[in-house]
Amino acid sequence: MHILIIGSGGREHALSWKIRQSQKCENLFILPGNAGTSAIGRNVDIAIDDFERIGEFVLENDIAMMVIGPEAPLVKGIADYFKATQALSHIRIIGPGKNGAQLEGSKDFAKDFMQKYGIPTAGFKTFTKASLDEGLRYLEDLSLPIVLKADGLAAGKGVIIAQSREEASGVLTEMLVEKKFGEASAKVVIEAFLSGIELSVFVLTDGEDYVILPEAKDYKRIGDNDSGPNTGGMGAVSPVPFANHEFMGKVEKRIIQPTIAGLKKDGVDYCGFIFIGLMNVGGDPYVIEYNVRMGDPETQAVLPRIENDLVDLLEAAADKKLKNQNIKINPKTATTVVLVSGGYPGAYEKGFPITGTDSIQETTVFHAGTRLGKENQVLTHGGRVLAITGMGETVQESLEKTYRDVNKISWEKVNFRKDIGQDILRISN
Ligand code: AMP
Ligand code: GLY
Repeated sequence: MHILIIGSGGREHALSWKIRQSQKCENLFILPGNAGTSAIGRNVDIAIDDFERIGEFVLENDIAMMVIGPEAPLVKGIADYFKATQALSHIRIIGPGKNGAQLEGSKDFAKDFMQKYGIPTAGFKTFTKASLDEGLRYLEDLSLPIVLKADGLAAGKGVIIAQSREEASGVLTEMLVEKKFGEASAKVVIEAFLSGIELSVFVLTDGEDYVILPEAKDYKRIGDNDSGPNTGGMGAVSPVPFANHEFMGKVEKRIIQPTIAGLKKDGVDYCGFIFIGLMNVGGDPYVIEYNVRMGDPETQAVLPRIENDLVDLLEAAADKKLKNQNIKINPKTATTVVLVSGGYPGAYEKGFPITGTDSIQETTVFHAGTRLGKENQVLTHGGRVLAITGMGETVQESLEKTYRDVNKISWEKVNFRKDIGQDILRISN
């Protein structure tokens, strides 16, 4: 089978790495890919929102399955474009259509959906410019801190946690009136703050049935001990000790099952991943957000723990045969540390040569923002540059392996968190 992966980050390199291991994968293409993916497949230089050219490429190269990594093309309707184009309608697509992608593309839609189907989430109300005064009054009665979310996609920057009512009023006005995030903040969801530990849960569904993939913990802040601004994610650990049988039972019954049943009831034919960002509040799971894709860098810790042939699972999802699939999960702990460009998530420089990856033996190196320079030298080409994943019998062993290799890699102004997994070590000891 010829398989095309859309995207260029660490998540897409990890998907490529896992799909490449399948006997069923004859030819692998990554669009646009990075230096890491070019070593295991063929990179394709087409923009990820140019559906017409992607469609032509798919036909020219006899692609049978397309896996969509990031949310933007899903929200823009890549799956709908393929389904509506006769020559392309037979291609298996892993990723929902525009309607299902609204779970991530509109926070207001997602909150309404959860309310409609009784899925636990923080109390909320949505406001527009026309209801600004009502919104400002609503803030008066909420306890602090207050969470404000731009409705649409805002590159992970659309959530503000305000510590005072004055700050919250300012943010609400900025978003609605000054359009801080453009059209994405034409609507703002104001919600109650949930206090607890976060967890990322991943589901692969064919619209009827589902398999639950290994869960992971993400580290969003740039600095150690969760300090500094938010990033796309600086590390991941899987499994997560509090996600035990009892807790995951609640997640399945209260969140996963009503989500899949709700989508079906609403006539959404959903094939793809659902990433549920949730908060463990005193032993009970609450949904913070839905994403309609895998997480980055969680994928780099989750996929190495899946023992199944991923192409089997993806094919079953596309063919509505997930019911017969059992997932086999490696009990070892995977830890992922992300190496970033100095300055990220603010301004940073690119184009530095990366050294040390040749001497990596115990871990897997996933590329994110990299490109090949002259004589195939690997250069930095983004904020998040590499993700290193190590596996161990214990959290400790896994962390030791990962950091041993992380410390071998270098470039000018490289930065990474030194404390990935330390919180998990504390819980497990
Ligand atoms: P999101 O962009 O929806 O992933 O939100 C970014 C981050 O904001 C989440 O990962 C949480 O850490 C935090 N967050 C979002 N909503 C809430 C909430 N209701 N209570 C506490 N933290 C939240
Ligand atoms: N690591 C969080 C995300 O992928 O959205």
